[in-house]
Amino acid sequence: MRTAAVVPAAGRGERLGPGGPKALRLLAGRPLLVHAVQTLGQVVDVVVVAAPPDPGAVDDVTALLAPEVGTAQLVVVAGGATRQESVRRALAALPADVASVLVHDAARPLAPAALARSVLAALEAGAHAVIPALPVTDTVKRVDADEVVVETVDRSVLRAVQTPQGFRRVVLEQAHAAPGADALEATDDAGLVERLGLPVQVVPGSEEAFKVTRPLDLVLAEAVHAARAA
Ligand code: C5P
Repeated sequence: MRTAAVVPAAGRGERLGPGGPKALRLLAGRPLLVHAVQTLGQVVDVVVVAAPPDPGAVDDVTALLAPEVGTAQLVVVAGGATRQESVRRALAALPADVASVLVHDAARPLAPAALARSVLAALEAGAHAVIPALPVTDTVKRVDADEVVVETVDRSVLRAVQTPQGFRRVVLEQAHAAPGADALEATDDAGLVERLGLPVQVVPGSEEAFKVTRPLDLVLAEAVHAARAA
């Protein structure tokens, strides 16, 4: 059975400022999506990308990524209005012989191959669902509607969650098809698996797997990329 990576890449990236779909914004002169797919192509057998839902985007993204996936098979589908819908569309395009699936945000272009491999290893060791995560470093407070602090949360039991997240294919498909999943707009896939009552295993994340969301994140990404190349 083969392994696959599903890459939701259809976000508009409005928090990053003007400049088109986030996955196609440039890091070291190449789209974020290219960085992410190059890495995943070294780890899995199939890469399925949910492209921005613009006219011609599926063909454009296919042409962009075909030289970047190495020996992996590339499939590109049109993404949806939400991340969850984009993942669902990519899942529907998975080849039949895929048993394990990574879901990885195009917006985390510098997540190392070793991180993807450690998530797959935890799946092979028997986990149903695996997420990389880091301890929370900021103090976290809960606030009310008026921005008044309600409480300080114990951060020692909190984790900041990243991708790639890994799943047995049947588990991920079941989670996305579960009653009520549509209405949830989950920000990650493990959240849908939690609703099934299945355990989600945490493995150590990577500082380099940070998500490019705001302009400062791109500055950091350029610096990390340059340091790796030096
Ligand atoms: O917006 P956010 O940074 O949380 O998006 C995480 C990932 O989900 C990004 O890679 C983005 O391209 C993807 N996404 C998507 N379809 C959407 C919205 C976001 O594939 N409709």
